[in-house]
Amino acid sequence: MSKNVSKDHIPQNPIQFGFFATKPHLKWAVSACVCVFIATGLSDLVVVVVRNLTDALAAPNLHISTVWTWAVIFPLLYLLSENTWRGSGFTGMRWFTGLVSTIYQILYEYLSLHSKEYFNNRFAGALASKISNVVDGMENLFEKILWKFIPLCMGLFWYMLFAGLSDWRLGAIIGLWTVFFLGINVWFAQKMQIYAFHSAESSSDLKGKIVDSLSNISLVHEYAYVAGEQEYIQKFIQKNYTAGLNQWWFSEWILTINGVLIALFLFAIMSTTLYFFQNHLITLGTVVMIIAIIGDLVGQLFFIGQEIRDAAKYYGEAKEGLKEILHEHTIVDAPHAAELNFSKGDISIKSMSFEYENRKVFDNFSIEIPQGQKVGFVGRSGAGKTTFVSLLLRHFDIQSGSISIDHQDIREVKLESLRRNIAFVPQDTSLFHRSIKENIRYSKPEASNQEVIAAAQSAQADDFIQTLPHKYDTLVGERGVKLSGGQRQRIAIARAFLKNSPILLLDEATSSLDSESEHAIQVSLERLMKGRTVIAIAHRLSTLKEMDRIVIIENGKIIEDGSPQDLLSQNGSIFKHMWDHQVKGFILDEITAQ
Ligand SMILES: Nc1ncnc2c1ncn2[C@@H]1O[C@H](COP(=O)(O)OP(=O)(O)OP(=O)(O)O)[C@@H](O)[C@H]1O
Ligand SMILES: [Mg+2]
Repeated sequence: MSKNVSKDHIPQNPIQFGFFATKPHLKWAVSACVCVFIATGLSDLVVVVVRNLTDALAAPNLHISTVWTWAVIFPLLYLLSENTWRGSGFTGMRWFTGLVSTIYQILYEYLSLHSKEYFNNRFAGALASKISNVVDGMENLFEKILWKFIPLCMGLFWYMLFAGLSDWRLGAIIGLWTVFFLGINVWFAQKMQIYAFHSAESSSDLKGKIVDSLSNISLVHEYAYVAGEQEYIQKFIQKNYTAGLNQWWFSEWILTINGVLIALFLFAIMSTTLYFFQNHLITLGTVVMIIAIIGDLVGQLFFIGQEIRDAAKYYGEAKEGLKEILHEHTIVDAPHAAELNFSKGDISIKSMSFEYENRKVFDNFSIEIPQGQKVGFVGRSGAGKTTFVSLLLRHFDIQSGSISIDHQDIREVKLESLRRNIAFVPQDTSLFHRSIKENIRYSKPEASNQEVIAAAQSAQADDFIQTLPHKYDTLVGERGVKLSGGQRQRIAIARAFLKNSPILLLDEATSSLDSESEHAIQVSLERLMKGRTVIAIAHRLSTLKEMDRIVIIENGKIIEDGSPQDLLSQNGSIFKHMWDHQVKGFILDEITAQ
């Protein structure tokens, strides 16, 4: 199994990343490499045995005992080298399975610490496929290096040595050609890697688009847009096709050029060997050895173009995935961040300015919310209410000003301690495809079943949960699709009950509930809000009326601030205007703008 690895610095280069992820499995990696080194040497030594056997057979006065000695050494050497290869298999298997687990662990842990903005800009499906690209790419690449490239390079070295010991010129031919052949193939690999990177990029783009399209398939059906969607996806299929074709096209050229180089090599080494034999410079055994070397090398080299194509593909896929996943984390703990020391729950925002990619939401915004105050936030759609809540949770960092809780700047405290002390009921509740019980318990993993049920009862969720096929053990479907919007919201409220944090943020927490359920939950919500600092974004007047204070925001500024009673008693107030123009208990966005 994988072990913990340091996350201080994770290299982006696939080879360095592979070494990094190998650290916890170093003993297996070293053992596998040592086995491969020894096994390659033993396998390659077979040609020397063949040479000696031939020379013994061709000797003018035949020593049958020498012939038999070499004939027995031959299978023994084979047995020994085979077993050493298996040794590399048994150790390599531990290395690679460990490597896969470690890579999953490193990448998931790294990804999970990215900011909301990072995920907003990417498809979750594409990220999952990038993780598997990196895992598969690294595993296959390192397998190729261990079992294909190291034996080939070592083989070339040994063969050069064996041939050189018989006649230095034969060794020189193999040596020079090796340098040239490997040099040109390294160059090919570098070029190939660019094609592979583009191909991996377009393939992961395509996967992301397919996942996005399939996750919105009901929308596609509802708008009868199946043909249009198919056409949209087809564009990405075409891009992927072109990138794949380019990659393969290049590798076919590598194979062709390598084929010519191998033929030239064969011609050079064969003609030199025969010439030396004719001139009695080498023995028959050496000729047979050179033929054996050629036989083995040609077999390995013929597919080297293919191996390079595969290796470059794995390298490109891993590189593409690592580049995307290993983006620098933007929302991180400051170097000496302390635990948030919660005493009261005062929130103080001073001269805060914040913009999303050039879209200004808050400009020099200040507000003081003393402990235990319940503040209702009102503003037209897009005014920045959800953004305000996201900033308190530090999903984004503000560009200037400060946000402090109990006099501690939230950028100076540990993120986890900040978020542990805030309960949040979001605008669109997202649930895991896990049981209801697990979903509620998410806010307090150590909670007992009784506590979970009590929280669900307080959130008016117990009644509907009891009607589900497996009650608290019912699975809710992807993102909770098997529940209605109101039911999902009540699960989120149950989470907040269970979390029992000093600060409570409600973003349209009851917007999906009908008046009856809302009325029922109102009593519990009031209980939940008691003694906490609360920021509630709401359109429902019955909710807002219960607040200590109403803040109306517009264009990133506070345009009205006061208790509901005070605001209602002022004739020109916006809140009074909204109250007078309410529609069935709801305020309207347009009226906010008056
Ligand atoms: N992740 C984001 N990246 C860029 N712009 C964003 C992002 N999220 C929100 N915005 C923009 O910021 C502005 C404020 O959005 P926000 O979600 O805070 O509004 P809101 O007041 O909660 O609206 P609603 O009542 O509709 O929920 C909007 O104009 C929106 O388009
Ligand atoms: Mg919102």
